[in-house]
This record gives sequence, structure tokens and C-alpha cells, in this order.
Amino acid sequence: MPALVLLGAQWGDEGKGKATDLLGGSVDYVVRYQGGNNAGHTVVVGDQKYALHLLPSGILSPGCTPVIGNGVVVDPSVLFSELSGLNERGVDTSKLLISGNAHIITPYNVTVDKVTERFLGKRKIGTTGRGIGPTYADKINRVGIRVQDLYDESILTQKVEAALDVKNQMLTKLYNRRAIATGQVVEELLGYADKLAPYVADTVLVLNQALDDDKVVLFEGGQGTLLDIDHGTYPFVTSSNPTAGGACTGAGVGPTKISRVIGILKAYTTRVGAGPFPTELFDEDGEALRRIGGERGVTTGRDRRCGWFDAVIARYATRVNGLTDFFLTKLDVLTGWEQIPVCVAYEIDGKRVEELPYSQSDFHHAKPVYETLPGWSEDITKAKSFSDLPKNAQAYVRALEEMSGAPISAIGVGPGRDETIEINSFL
Ligand code: GDP
Ligand code: IMO
Ligand code: MG
Repeated sequence: MPALVLLGAQWGDEGKGKATDLLGGSVDYVVRYQGGNNAGHTVVVGDQKYALHLLPSGILSPGCTPVIGNGVVVDPSVLFSELSGLNERGVDTSKLLISGNAHIITPYNVTVDKVTERFLGKRKIGTTGRGIGPTYADKINRVGIRVQDLYDESILTQKVEAALDVKNQMLTKLYNRRAIATGQVVEELLGYADKLAPYVADTVLVLNQALDDDKVVLFEGGQGTLLDIDHGTYPFVTSSNPTAGGACTGAGVGPTKISRVIGILKAYTTRVGAGPFPTELFDEDGEALRRIGGERGVTTGRDRRCGWFDAVIARYATRVNGLTDFFLTKLDVLTGWEQIPVCVAYEIDGKRVEELPYSQSDFHHAKPVYETLPGWSEDITKAKSFSDLPKNAQAYVRALEEMSGAPISAIGVGPGRDETIEINSFL
């Protein structure tokens, strides 16, 4: 019963979509377990480029069943536009399964996300504005709307009414906005019910039976370890658990079933939105990483903040996720630098610190301590095996592996499916 978790080891956008798609051809199920359409996962197949937000990247592999687990928040309008976009390009999406327990991102959740960010002003999180935080807040407050609620009009009406009760007070009295009418929301949501019905399933049962039958299940994380609501740089985080434990709660699979946890790790670091980022660069190196790496958000189109590789973060990701492997991505982007600095520790209040400080104030003050590794100038995008890499690129990978605490089992040398060096097989 091989069950693999594939997740972001940094602040998201590590290349999870590419890695998932690569494995998609050899697995039976690909499951999103948290987050929603705040994610932007790019998959390049031949000359075709796909940007997936809500759908699991396995949807592009014909033999694979894509699953949206109970831990995901679903915006039905985004779901259907993503599905029809893929159908128009000839992708069969009929196998998709959606948990009846997944929560729905309602139009008022999107409104609340936007108005609260505006209200926060300089203190804003820089969310994607997709209603993610308010939908998870409703879930925890027990006023959320679940997929299964679309099939009982009277229950749905009561729940929307309850959710809007306080929100309308807040929208009208605090934010100076118009109240949202229950009837309008209910009508919109009911409009999705019939279209959604063929996909709705007891995904917990399906996945556990699949594992009992020795099928291969891959859990695809959205966002990344440092954006985790519990283990990330709170409050500059998303509102779910991208870390490995999230796969268990977000899909209804016990931890004893998970056989491997793969951390997707960029050969440098990026972040979108606000929050601390010790190795962030504000000079031409940062600009060059952004330009060469194409570091622009897939969901919001914002420029990503760029910096050197941070081994303290990678070690932390190994620990909180119990990583068994790393998939190192975008090594090709570093080609051409004579010297490549790597952050090996932080200096906080004059002291050297080897591990991520648990205090956010300390983390905000952390200054990177760099070691500089020699770079390479040869094109590596055609490399098929580790030995094809220039000696300095090999040494860079080995140094990162040593510092990060788990074996690097694959290396990305370009965005395409085949631009990957496999070192140890994942299956
Ligand atoms: P995700 O959110 O983790 O799936 O990552 P994104 O898709 O947001 O961002 C990763 C970007 O890097 C995408 O444009 C990918 O096509 C691209 N990419 C992934 N792996 C590699 C790689 O090894 N080299 C290069 N040059 N690009 C890559
Ligand atoms: P993928 O899956 C990078 C960031 C936002 C913001 C914070 C909270 O493509 O790696 P939210 O809308 O989730 O409430 O925003 O989290 N964020 C991401 N950053 N990649 C993502 O997804 C992200 N999803 C959310 O920029 O800082
Ligand atoms: Mg992304």
C-alpha cells in the first residue's frame, strides 16, 4: 500500500505541480488534501503548459484518478471553469472525485477575504484574495457550508443564514459594505448541485479501499511548510496544514499508511506575500533569479520575492514533515553564477543559531550566515543522470543534501516532464 506525500518544503511554488505530474503516470490516485485555488501549479507537457489551481496535477495523467479530499476548500465557479478549460484542450476529467465533506468557498468568503485585507492596510498578509482564510475560519467556527449541503435546500438555507448573520453585521457596520442576501447565495450554490453530483463521493472510503488493494496513492500538497498555519511563519501563512500530517486529516488516511514523504525543494528560495524571509535579496542577484527563474505568481501574477537557498528552512522541513526524500528543483536557474551563497545558519542578536527559532520575533531578526559554493557555467538542461552534471553542480547538490538532512532523490533541470534527473526511484 504505497502512499506518498509530496509537499512544498519552503514557501510554496517549489515545483510541486511538475513533480506530481511526473509521478502521475505511475500512480493510481492523486489527492489534494488542503488549500484551494490559492495554489498555482504549473505543469509542462511537451509544448503544452497547464496552470492548475484547485485540481490535482494527476488530472493530466489518463490512468490516474484525481481526488479533492475533505481538507480542501472548493470554489465551485473556479472548479467548473478549470474543468471546462481542460476539456477544451482535450483532457478527460470525468474520473474526478470530490469529497462530500469538503467545504465550499462561498461568494461572501471571497468578499470577507478582500475587505479584511484592505482593512489591515500595512499589516496585511498579502493573501491571494480567493476566500481561503474566511472559509477555513467558518469551518472551525462550525458555520461552514460543505459540498453535501448542496443536496438539502432547507439545511443549506439555514446554514447560509447562520453564516451571514454575523458577517452582514460586520460588512455593513464595520466595513461600510452592502449586506449579502441569503436567497441570492443559496440560489447560486444550488445552481452548482446537479453539475457537481457526478463527482461527489465518499473519498475516505475510496482511498482506504484503494490502499487495501495495493493501489498507489499520491497526496499532493498545496503551498508549503513555512506557510503552514501551525508550523509556518504565523501570521504570514495560509489557513491550512500543507505539512505531512495534513495529508492524514485532509484525506482521512491514517499515518501508518504513509510510506514516503517527499519534500519539493527549490535550489534557491522564493516567497509571495508578506512575512519574514531571511535570505531575501534586494539587489541584481535577486532580480536575476526572478528573471531567469520566471518567478511570477501563477495565481495572482505578483512578482515573487527571491533569495539564496536557506538550509535552516530545509532542515526544519525535514523535521516537521518526517521527510524521506527531497526533489530538488530549478537547479538550471543557478547556471552562470561564479559563486553561489547558501545560508547555513542565522545570526540572531549576535549569536549563531543552527535551527529555525520558534520565536517569530527572533525569526524576524535572523540574519543569514552564508557559505559560498563555487558555481558552474555549463548548460545542464540536457543532463539525464547525476554524472552528466558539472562537478561544481554535483558538489552544490551534495552540499545541500548534507545540510538539509534527507537524500535528494531527483533533480529538476527544466520545467518539462523529461527535464529531470532521477537518482532514487520514488516508487
Ligand atoms: P508549485 O506551486 O509548487 O507547483 O510551483 P509553480 O508552478 O507555482 O512554480 C514553479 C515554476 O517552476 C513553474 O513555472 C514550473 O514550470 C517551473 N519549474 C518546475 N521545475 C523546474 C525546473 O527544474 N527548472 C525550471 N527552470 N523550471 C521549473
Ligand atoms: P502553491 O500551491 C505561494 C501565500 C499568499 C499569502 C499567504 C496567505 O502554488 O505553492 P491565502 O490566500 O492562502 O490566505 O494567502 O499564503 N500563498 C502562496 N504562496 N504559493 C502558493 O501556492 C500559495 N498559496 C498561498 O501569497 O502570503
Ligand atoms: Mg505555485
